[in-house]
Amino acid sequence: MDDRNGWGRDRPVPAGSPHSPPDSFVEGANVSDPGIYEEFAERWPDCWERAADLLSWDVPYETVLEDDCAPFYRWFADGELNASYNCIDRHLEAGRKTHAAIRWEGKHGERETYTYQDLSVAVNEVAAALRDLGVAADDVVTIYLPMIPELPIAMLACARIGAPHSVVFAGLSSDALATRMDAADSEYLITCDGYYRRGDAFNQKSKADNARLSLEADVQTVVVDRLGDDLPHVLGENEYDYHDLRGEFAGRAVEPVSRGAEDMLFLMYTSGTTGEPKGVVHTTGGYLAHVAWTSRAVLDVEPADTYWCAADIGWITGHSYIVYGPLALGTTTVIYEGTPDYPDRDRLWEIVDRNAVDVFYTAPTAIRAFMKWGEKYPERHDLSSLRLLGTVGEPISPRPWEWYREHVGGGECPIVDTWWQTETGAVILSTLPGIDEMKPGAAGPALPGIEAGVVDETGADVDPGEAGYLVLSKPWPGMARTLYDGDDRFRAEYWEQFSDPNADEWRYFSGDTACLDGDGYVTVLGRVDDVITVSGRRLSTMEIESAITDVEGIAEAAVVGGSDDRGDTEIHAYVSTESGYDPDATVREAVVGSLESAIGPVATPDEVVFTPELPKTRSGKIMRRLLEDVANGEELEDTSALRNPEIVGEIQAERDGR
Ligand code: WT7
Repeated sequence: MDDRNGWGRDRPVPAGSPHSPPDSFVEGANVSDPGIYEEFAERWPDCWERAADLLSWDVPYETVLEDDCAPFYRWFADGELNASYNCIDRHLEAGRKTHAAIRWEGKHGERETYTYQDLSVAVNEVAAALRDLGVAADDVVTIYLPMIPELPIAMLACARIGAPHSVVFAGLSSDALATRMDAADSEYLITCDGYYRRGDAFNQKSKADNARLSLEADVQTVVVDRLGDDLPHVLGENEYDYHDLRGEFAGRAVEPVSRGAEDMLFLMYTSGTTGEPKGVVHTTGGYLAHVAWTSRAVLDVEPADTYWCAADIGWITGHSYIVYGPLALGTTTVIYEGTPDYPDRDRLWEIVDRNAVDVFYTAPTAIRAFMKWGEKYPERHDLSSLRLLGTVGEPISPRPWEWYREHVGGGECPIVDTWWQTETGAVILSTLPGIDEMKPGAAGPALPGIEAGVVDETGADVDPGEAGYLVLSKPWPGMARTLYDGDDRFRAEYWEQFSDPNADEWRYFSGDTACLDGDGYVTVLGRVDDVITVSGRRLSTMEIESAITDVEGIAEAAVVGGSDDRGDTEIHAYVSTESGYDPDATVREAVVGSLESAIGPVATPDEVVFTPELPKTRSGKIMRRLLEDVANGEELEDTSALRNPEIVGEIQAERDGR
């Protein structure tokens, strides 16, 4: 960092006290030999054969890595395989037809189990139907479905015929759908009539119709009838009923198409720092190898497990760790539609209990909500089947980490805090649960075969405990290969900042800031755009938030930069308390006290606004930008993409009322 007063220079990494994985876990862990770090370092890049060998290849690869066109790396490039074959057929051939592949928990308590055989039948029929509609290899199929089994089935059907899918999160608007279809030149869409949000039927097809109106291409559209009589719909031109199509192709088998390892498996749009969404391109061989390997080594998934990642398949977490990773390993993956507080706040624990879930993976935002609701909800259920917990998506501070371990993990389960991104495809930083000590608050070291660093603006390594930019100095198999809209943007967004092309030295910039400790554990501080400068000092909003949530009784906090009359930046904290704690003067003092002791008086907030909830996107990310507008008295942008749009007005009223 350029300025000596930069944030966190002399402070130790704020991790909690370490925990070792219990012997009972280590004994049964998939990976428990600490020698794996050295083995991967010595055999790099060939070490990644360990991952690729978890897959079945139609044509075996000979070269592991081709780096002559860096940063456009190619992994296992001369090999060929099919992702749907790897996730389905090979398990049937291994005699596991009747093993449960998917357990679906619907919003209204509906339950469905798909064995690997059932999944095979469905995927083959849908693949045959898509082909009949004209879908050829390399045609992008857009999927705009909620969390119903038809979503992974559609993805695997695309993979079977070599058509890349582009899943658009069901909660996004018709404009967002249109932009993504247009950018990907996608002429095929799989959607549904609607779905239930809380108790109500919500019309998805009208959103899809609006999107199609603004597109030039004639879009062939497959519609899943999710709501039946609750929301009658009529099909128009170029529209086909999903179940009718399955009936028409009942029993049809479709040969999986052999794909080059570097052929595109899917596109996933993610928002960038600038307006246009980025179409992140993932390929077949490296991606599948990396997600299968990390599902095994980090999430410790075994075929006999019931494994549950409570994310949405519309984001990368769900692609990698609900669909491709677990199914490649032949395990049972739980898919749940709904929200953790409907019909009651013990919905998740009821599902864990009833399905005897072994491994559970969720996000800090959910964990903070559980903590806020209180331990009585997990305590109502038998959670003793759980042997490993995971978290992903944001930094988790020590208090919710400990709460998760204590009240969900029975004080025993190891926790993996996995850092990765849409662009990395699969987990990059995490402890290996059968080997490493866990430090609450720190994600962990780079996985074997991954090289992470924390550097200053000039690209020089910073000392342990100092904040800097998180970079990855070696390629990895699951990495994005490019952006659909262009190689130049790919280079500019991720590679230009810290690479030296003349020396052919390439480093990937994550866009995150972080600290390393002396053991190589990384504490992720937040996005570079989450840094605020107060009185000439740079502060990470995440770090301030972590100090606030360390206070007893605080559930969640979001910190943004507001401006005072003179235009100087002030710290504004929006805070929600746990049930049973009133947001009174004592709590307010404790917040200020915690900030002063954790960071210093420079971090004293100018405003602390209590609110029952923070505004969040549907994927659970706190909308700090909106709070920034509130803090600055600015006109608010459209809030319709929020999970809880009504909260913004309440926060404004609370702030203005004081
Ligand atoms: C950003 C990527 C990876 C799937 C979900 C999000 C943040 C992710 C962690 C973690 C601290 C984390 C980073 C990253 N993030 N995991 N364990 N600790 N921060 O995917 O939408 O591409 O977001 O999420 O800031 O850059 P994404």
